[in-house]
Amino acid sequence: MLIPPPLALYVHLPWCVRKCPYCDFNSHQGKDGLPFDAYVDALLRDLDHDLPLVWGRTVHSVFFGGGTPSLFPPETIDRFLQGASSRLRFAPGLEVTLETNPGTAEHGRFEHYRAAGVNRISFGIQSFDDASLQKLGRIHDSREAEHAVKLAQDAGFDNLNLDLMYALPGQTLAMAEHDLQRAFALQPAHVSHYQLTLEPNTVFFARPPQGIPDDDLAWDMQEHCQALLADAGYRHYEVSAYARAGRRCAHNLNYWRYGDYIGIGAGAHGKITVGATQQVLRRWKVKHPTAYLAAAGTPDAIGGDDDITPERRPFEFMLNALRLQDGFALADFTATTGLPAKHIATPLEQARQRGWLALSGTNVMLTALGRRFTNDVIELFLDH
Ligand SMILES: C[S@@+](CC[C@H](N)C(=O)[O-])C[C@H]1O[C@@H](n2cnc3c(N)ncnc32)[C@H](O)[C@@H]1O
Ligand code: SF4
Repeated sequence: MLIPPPLALYVHLPWCVRKCPYCDFNSHQGKDGLPFDAYVDALLRDLDHDLPLVWGRTVHSVFFGGGTPSLFPPETIDRFLQGASSRLRFAPGLEVTLETNPGTAEHGRFEHYRAAGVNRISFGIQSFDDASLQKLGRIHDSREAEHAVKLAQDAGFDNLNLDLMYALPGQTLAMAEHDLQRAFALQPAHVSHYQLTLEPNTVFFARPPQGIPDDDLAWDMQEHCQALLADAGYRHYEVSAYARAGRRCAHNLNYWRYGDYIGIGAGAHGKITVGATQQVLRRWKVKHPTAYLAAAGTPDAIGGDDDITPERRPFEFMLNALRLQDGFALADFTATTGLPAKHIATPLEQARQRGWLALSGTNVMLTALGRRFTNDVIELFLDH
């Protein structure tokens, strides 16, 4: 029996001052004359169109992702949140995150984001080394990054995430450590620590930069940085996510627990469980901002719909849940996929015998060995 899991709201804001050469997110270059107000109108129309899928349900987190959401003036974020809260029931204590590029932080802006209801800021810092930031094509330097974080703290934000990347062109182990030390000095509640990947359809993929660390060095950086993060009080809870006590990202945790989310905005993806019909539906919106602006709120804005059949759910579930250090409870597998635990008894046992998964009571998690073969583990659950 499928039981609809907690519901979140993802809002995609698709513009950036400049496209970074490593980035494959749906982000488009633009700064002046962006149609912020028209886009908020489009988001609300888009939300209206998706509402029948989630009637009566409560939203537990909102995430403004991008692109660079901090390009949007606070008044537009305020107008969106007011419109959304009149259409959806917001849970008390709702987490509201806004992704921010430090190069767009302006004095006075954070107070207004906070007044609008944003209570968590996620900064795209990437590195505190100015030469690395230049190679990454970033619009900010390390001084601006520190200044932006302090502006947010002065405005009263205490729930901050800093995104850092490692295995950067020309980076040494000492440089990766130095980036973390500079981050710790700012006392963020959360750190996301990503290995730079060369994604197809990016400039870096077509022309890889010189000096990308090899796999051995990247592995050393990861191990060393994990230890530093642990020493500094950040608990590793997902592949790339580390948090102080009580500061895990509720929005992302919901994805990893195979929770539900409405996705609005250009190219946004959503996943909704419909109890009445026992369906798990995925829906995504057209990617290009111009096409999205024109069609939002009509069927033409839907890029596609997919009904996830029961056979496909175990794979999807594992793809998410095995990212979590603590794994998952079998009862949650059953509630979110609608399948009894015995449905996956065979692949679970195969993975356990190979030393990839550990079962403690009714909880399942990857072992250290399993983490090195995550893709193989997940594949065991394909079409099950
Ligand atoms: C959508 S971006 C949001 C932040 C904001 N747009 C910015 O860059 O300042 C989310 C994060 O994903 C990470 N990221 C983007 N592309 C990546 C790549 N190719 N490899 C690893 N991490 C990447 C970066 O750390 C980035 O801050
Ligand atoms: S600012 Fe962020 S979203 Fe925009 S291009 Fe750079 S990494 Fe991608």
